[in-house]
Amino acid sequence: MKVAVIGSGVMGHGIAELFAMAGHEVWINDVSEEILKSALQRIRWSLEKLAERGSLKENVDSVMSRIRSSVDQEKTLRGAEFVVEVVKEDLELKREIFKRAERLASEGATLVSNTSSLPITEISQGLSHPERVAGMHFFNPPVLMPLVEIVRGEETSEDTVRKVADLSKQLGKEFIVVRDVPGFFVNRILLRIMEAGCFLVDKGFASVEEVDSTSMEELGFPMGVFLLADYTGLDVGASVWNAVIKRGFEAYPCRKVQELVSQGHLGVKSGRGFYSYPQPGKFTRP
Ligand code: 3HC
Repeated sequence: MKVAVIGSGVMGHGIAELFAMAGHEVWINDVSEEILKSALQRIRWSLEKLAERGSLKENVDSVMSRIRSSVDQEKTLRGAEFVVEVVKEDLELKREIFKRAERLASEGATLVSNTSSLPITEISQGLSHPERVAGMHFFNPPVLMPLVEIVRGEETSEDTVRKVADLSKQLGKEFIVVRDVPGFFVNRILLRIMEAGCFLVDKGFASVEEVDSTSMEELGFPMGVFLLADYTGLDVGASVWNAVIKRGFEAYPCRKVQELVSQGHLGVKSGRGFYSYPQPGKFTRP
């Protein structure tokens, strides 16, 4: 099946990798050759890690051979049977992509968004076939995290939910079908945890390091909440936060996240967030 992945950043490259590992012909698209080159390097790095651990069924080159990249979005979308949109959280941008996808993808194609915070119902508004649109929300890193949230928009058909569920199983993921509410399911929980950490730090009751070591050592999280925020991207976290608050989810505004984002400190991707990373884009535990 031809799968078009629009957006090759932190999540997009991992999602493309996952589909290629499952045997699909994947096209990834982004706005520059340089971004695409970096996405392909990250996919290769990840596949090599999986191969080292014996969790790749074939060799790295044969998975890579199923991935093509292009800055031409129309070419990427043309004839695709499954389209995954993974661009930044900008409703208008997403709507344009879905309109283009509906025009260029194969007839009856399923179109999904990896949005963390925008309503699927709003993204699919104005399309001729909103019933073919759903949310398919992966978690970072998509190749390792076991869960996918399937978001049922108001117009999403049963057939679309079933197709996305079948595909999630084929990708080796567990899935839950969730309603199109702000933050869906997982981020509503994550936001509450992050909010608690932010409150403690903002009020001077605890340091970032204390909150993180407590969440790891006492609560058993694989990463402390602030390290996870850096890992996911503080810009992503801030936009999720703003989008869900705008849609009625009451949350304590995290001043420190906003401050860091306004200074261009976006976490691992920029080399600095709550912690510092010597090589921007490469995660190393502080
Ligand atoms: N591909 C392949 N291998 C990878 C990898 C990737 N993308 N990322 C890490 N690895 C490898 C590492 O290289 C390492 O291998 P090595 O031992 O051979 O060097 C191995 O996995 C273990 O990694 P680490 O030692 O760095 O650390 P961990 O044991 O903690 O595992 C983790 C990494 C799986 C990311 C784990 O820390 C974890 O589960 N963290 C929480 C992630 C999480 O909660 N994600 C959800 C975020 S929320 C989200 O995405 C939603 C959105 O809407 C915001």
